[in-house]
Amino acid sequence: MSFEFLRTNLAEKESLGLLRERRCIASNKDGIIEVKGKHYINFASNDYLGLSQHTQVQQAFAQGIAATGTGSGASPLVTGYSEQHKALEDDICSVLNKPAALLFSSGFSANQAICHALFNQANNSAGHILCDKYMHASFIQGALETPAKLLRYQHNNFEHAQKQLRNLPANSLVATEGIFSMDGDEGEIATLAGLINSESETQDRPWLMVDDAHAFGVIGKSGFGSLDANITSESVDVVMGTFGKAVGTGGAFVAGSQALIDYMVNSSKHYIYSTAFSGAQAYATRTSLAIIEAGKERELLHNNIATFKQLAAERGLDLLPSNSPIQALIVACPNKAMAYSKKLAELGLWIPAIRTPTVPKNTDRLRITLSALHQTQDVHALIDGLSVVIHN
Ligand SMILES: Cc1ncc(COP(=O)(O)O)c(C=O)c1O
Repeated sequence: MSFEFLRTNLAEKESLGLLRERRCIASNKDGIIEVKGKHYINFASNDYLGLSQHTQVQQAFAQGIAATGTGSGASPLVTGYSEQHKALEDDICSVLNKPAALLFSSGFSANQAICHALFNQANNSAGHILCDKYMHASFIQGALETPAKLLRYQHNNFEHAQKQLRNLPANSLVATEGIFSMDGDEGEIATLAGLINSESETQDRPWLMVDDAHAFGVIGKSGFGSLDANITSESVDVVMGTFGKAVGTGGAFVAGSQALIDYMVNSSKHYIYSTAFSGAQAYATRTSLAIIEAGKERELLHNNIATFKQLAAERGLDLLPSNSPIQALIVACPNKAMAYSKKLAELGLWIPAIRTPTVPKNTDRLRITLSALHQTQDVHALIDGLSVVIHN
């Protein structure tokens, strides 16, 4: 029978405890989700600041819809690029101190577009891509589709990165993440930028790219991610950030030199042949940026992270090192991770099991995410639940 592999593959995944299934969320409010009539405290969302539910962001969305409609109606090069999009790009340039920015419908397509723009048969078939082993699938997939040679250094291992940096040809890219999506630790960008400068001739210096999907909105003096934290914006050549996580809306941006952005406008198929997200979404996103800068939600989030970490240490819960909203507890077995997740759900705590191949083999885990929406008692309930499930 044609395509019989569909069934056999699914059956195999199920037998290994690796079958993925979607859960349909009936409601999502104040850090509580409803699934099949039951309510759970949600420790699985990337809406770290709760901005998807912020009244001002919602009102801005509604005002934007009233002014510009619910959809952009076309790709950006046709009629999908509006004053709202342009204003959002300008905001991004201003907060990151970069000359130009471009909006994408998702971080996945933005990462792919960066790889395709910088490495292609016509202009750069010899450059290499060197990145942290834990880079997100959207970047790795994009890199693999180009003629570039893909090299990976062990996660945050800068000795390993240094060895590989020495042999990079001209027109190469080094890439890392601001906050790693599955481990929650930071990419140590200042260290990487320093290494790039010390190991390369200035004129042939590889470009440094940061995927700031989980850092934008969370770290930095004004909350605008890695470039706003402890590095100069000149040491990072390309930044990709997403709006679907801490910003609370959706879509993504790429920021960099004017030449990079103009080149992408002229060549990135992910940009040219895709309908722009709505002007209303751009308008709401600008409102989110202003709320992020004001800082109240960031403070609530970081207080929750500190409380969680302190209580976890007191209860002997062995977390991966992380100061971010992403906290990982390694279980090292897909079936066990699923069983823990199920038991936690019975206690009203929604914490997903993240299994290989999303994470490396034998590092299956519970990925806990904290949010500004959580109350202190939610964090206590989380700790109690984890202690009961893990220690029994
Ligand atoms: C590190 C990282 N980069 C990129 C993406 C893709 O972003 P988006 O969800 O907007 O497609 C994700 C999504 O989870 C991510 O975690």
